[in-house]
Amino acid sequence: MFSQISTRQFSSSARNAYKVTVLGAAGGIGQPLSLLMKLNPKVTQLSLYDLRLGKGVATDLSHIPTNSTVTGYGPENDGLATALKGSDVVLIPAGVPRKPGMTRDDLFNTNASIVRDLAKAAAENCPNASLLIISNPVNSTVPIVSEVLKSKGVYNPKKLFGVTTLDVLRSSRFLSEVVGTNPANETVTVVGGHSGVTIVPLLSQTKHKDLPKEQYDALVHRIQFGGDEVVQAKDGAGSATLSMAQAGARMAGSVLKGLAGEADITEPTFIDSPLFKSEGVEFFSSRVTLGPEGVKEVHPLGTLSSVEEEMVATAKETLKKNIQKGIDFVKANP
Ligand code: NAI
Repeated sequence: MFSQISTRQFSSSARNAYKVTVLGAAGGIGQPLSLLMKLNPKVTQLSLYDLRLGKGVATDLSHIPTNSTVTGYGPENDGLATALKGSDVVLIPAGVPRKPGMTRDDLFNTNASIVRDLAKAAAENCPNASLLIISNPVNSTVPIVSEVLKSKGVYNPKKLFGVTTLDVLRSSRFLSEVVGTNPANETVTVVGGHSGVTIVPLLSQTKHKDLPKEQYDALVHRIQFGGDEVVQAKDGAGSATLSMAQAGARMAGSVLKGLAGEADITEPTFIDSPLFKSEGVEFFSSRVTLGPEGVKEVHPLGTLSSVEEEMVATAKETLKKNIQKGIDFVKANP
């Protein structure tokens, strides 16, 4: 009797040992993100790939005494395939970042083919992995990955995530600065996509729904264009890397918790979403509960203010174009 119960308990709780791979691991985001994944106790194998310095970053991190092995790879000797084999979660921050004056869409030409090729390798070497896409423009790179996976016959919409978590972190932080609270206690759901007007923070669903109009408008603008503050401050040397690493590590940590069967793990993320498909918007970010199979439940937006309704409508129109651009790219450049 006792052994039956304990067996059942054991088999119903998923494992707690995962292989996580970072593609673009030596970059501005890749390095601190890899460090944070090295500190995650659920990660037992950390696999780092980059065109340069993958092995160096891996050797450096491998001296940290946490319960994971770290292996680094470059393009030689089929390094990408070896890095990916057996991965449970793959984080993709490979690509070029913005310089002052650039929009995320300006990155499309360079990053689209990088992401396409990495997605092909993931489809071939770890078709069951959860893929977390950080490379911009996320609104287009996520559809690119989905098209590649479809063409390879391994598309699982429950395991493809556009990482919008940085917008969520910024919302907590910037809101707390306005209202004078501890950001750790401010949770803001951000929906739509990950660029400018497609970033829609649902402030009406927080405790601070009655901000004066001027303050509200300024806060929304800061959340939507917060990335520009970093691009300008870095003055040509790139965009957000450290805050993005924290955001990526949080999202990956939540996906791992979901895979491990932990309850009530919810994050806003840009996914193949049923919410507005009937209006032709194939991908949309909203709160998603994560589970052992990836996406477990896609939550509706809930009650919106009239201003938020308008922002969501604008976001949908822009998203349709961004998504189509990604799909068209893969059709023209398979
Ligand atoms: P970075 O230039 O510092 O690093 C990019 C890394 O990718 C480099 O180490 C480079 O060697 C590597 N790389 C390039 N092509 C590759 C390939 N084919 N295979 C493997 N590695 C490759 O850039 P950073 O600052 O780390 O940004 C990376 C991406 O993340 C950019 O596209 C940026 O726009 C995006 N980003 C996304 C955010 C989000 O919220 N989702 C926030 C901030 C940046």
